[in-house]
Amino acid sequence: MLDLMHISKTYDPGTINEKILYHDFSFHVDQGDYITIVGANGSGKTTLFNLIGGRILPDEGIVLLDGKDVTFESEHNRAHEIGRLFQDPSMGTAPGLTVYENLVLAAKTGGWLSMPNSNDKEYLKQKLKELDIGLEERMNQRVGTLSGGQRQALALVMATIHPPKLLLLDEHTAALDPQSAEKVTQLTDQIIQDNNITCLMITHDLDQALHTGNRTIMLNEGEIVYDVSGKDREKLEAVDLIRIFKEKTRKYLDDEVLLNV
Ligand SMILES: Nc1ncnc2c1ncn2[C@@H]1O[C@H](COP(=O)(O)OP(=O)(O)OP(=O)(O)O)[C@@H](O)[C@H]1O
Ligand SMILES: [Mg+2]
Repeated sequence: MLDLMHISKTYDPGTINEKILYHDFSFHVDQGDYITIVGANGSGKTTLFNLIGGRILPDEGIVLLDGKDVTFESEHNRAHEIGRLFQDPSMGTAPGLTVYENLVLAAKTGGWLSMPNSNDKEYLKQKLKELDIGLEERMNQRVGTLSGGQRQALALVMATIHPPKLLLLDEHTAALDPQSAEKVTQLTDQIIQDNNITCLMITHDLDQALHTGNRTIMLNEGEIVYDVSGKDREKLEAVDLIRIFKEKTRKYLDDEVLLNV
């Protein structure tokens, strides 16, 4: 459902800061895949999402979404089909608006215009109730006053209120306390399953990377250095990923590099 073909991307070409990040990079995602992405800081994970989501353009290569060439489609246009969550819970929500107003905004910008009663408060309340974290009681509360976990859960509902074809999660639970992170992870899995959304998730939590989804890829300097799924993946543990990282990158760095702790 997603294909990146022969993508190249160099930052600041011709300057002292020139950084060739991607060179002839190709990546295929099947419909229904839930792929976790690991890699050290600066390995190009967020840049990959920027290329997929249209925030940056590749220098070469094409991006196909469901067979359609979206390489030069704006980020705004792609947002109808691609949802995205960031590490910072404040990125996906408007703090000055209430929970209800945020949801209405998401329903409208998510391409949900054709649906009648899109501003039906009861329907949106029900959506929140399904989360089972009490957000439905806070419909008129300003989002800026919610906890990080509540905000990220709301951002998740907003990003999936009109289920996107593809959901990009960029360390979306990393800034939350362990309990909230677990809750948001659980909600994420539930929403993805219920709506059959194809998903890519960046994480530094190697246990999460191996126990979520159906495939894991390891990025290093803009290359996929390891790609595992099925039975091979079932056998893996976090320590194996660290060992593989060291083997593949020939970088005998501290474990912290991959774990980002
Ligand atoms: N807009 C930009 N201009 C110049 N260089 C950039 C830009 N965005 C990213 N880079 C560089 O590209 C490399 C990859 O960055 P990227 O943010 O994709 O890494 P990452 O894998 O997401 O890292 P982290 O785990 O820290 O989030 C880094 O060296 C970064 O400095
Ligand atoms: Mg990043």
